[in-house]
Amino acid sequence: MKNTLLKAADEAGKIILEYFEKEYTIESKDVISNLVTEIDKKSETKIIEIIKSEYPDHFILSEEIGALKTSSEYKWIIDPIDGTINYAHKIPICCVSIGIEKDGEVVMGIVYNPMSGERFFSEKGKGAYLNDKKIQVTSQKSIKSSLLVTGFPYKSSRELDGPVSSFTGFLKMDIPIRRLGSAALDLCWTACGRFDGFWEYNLNPWDVAAGYLIMEEAGGKVTDFDGNKYSIYNKEILASNGLIHDDMLKVINPNFQK
Ligand code: IPD
Ligand code: CA
Ligand code: CA
Repeated sequence: MKNTLLKAADEAGKIILEYFEKEYTIESKDVISNLVTEIDKKSETKIIEIIKSEYPDHFILSEEIGALKTSSEYKWIIDPIDGTINYAHKIPICCVSIGIEKDGEVVMGIVYNPMSGERFFSEKGKGAYLNDKKIQVTSQKSIKSSLLVTGFPYKSSRELDGPVSSFTGFLKMDIPIRRLGSAALDLCWTACGRFDGFWEYNLNPWDVAAGYLIMEEAGGKVTDFDGNKYSIYNKEILASNGLIHDDMLKVINPNFQK
């Protein structure tokens, strides 16, 4: 299964790279800024074709096509391009993300940015890797010395109070914050120690399936905004090195009590 996962990400990566500088069709989804390109669809078609050729009965959940439901205990959760707005604006911060669930638990995942050549991979219980190098989260204990990353919902009709008040909460503590535009890379860049923590509202399972496992296997902590056990079907995610987790929770959720 690992070979199929690697091959699917590699082949999707080739497509993403090939069209990066070219012209292609771009459409809007629910809001004008939320884009889907012809390349998201090409990448998705290729990934599904590779999975189906090896595992025709596996369940597939993919962002653009939706759920191709079967009764298999295996579910492949695919984001054919995470960071589509970056991609459409020729910003090379985007990736293909594929996670595999077995009986409802993420057991393998890959996040591959073909532009940078960075391939994050993890298998449950076997650690997390950036290319050949084992990765781990930072050992930063102080939230005031941390670098954080977040994202914002595209649709303003979604609740903005949480994202805005948590953002200002950290800013008021003079903490630097970045916004990459790819939740999968936000998780992986936290897993490999570039950031100390990541939080976001309103995500979908394909944004986080692979990155969640990579974070956990890199020694990170991932919860919801009450500090409870995280599921990739939660909309809200807080992922950190573990050491600053409670301090982040206090800012994001003022009702949080340890
Ligand atoms: C988006 C990215 C972004 C996050 C959005 C996602 P897409 O995925 O992960 O960082 O803020 O909520 O929808 O649309 O580029 O696949
Ligand atoms: Ca996404
Ligand atoms: Ca996407």
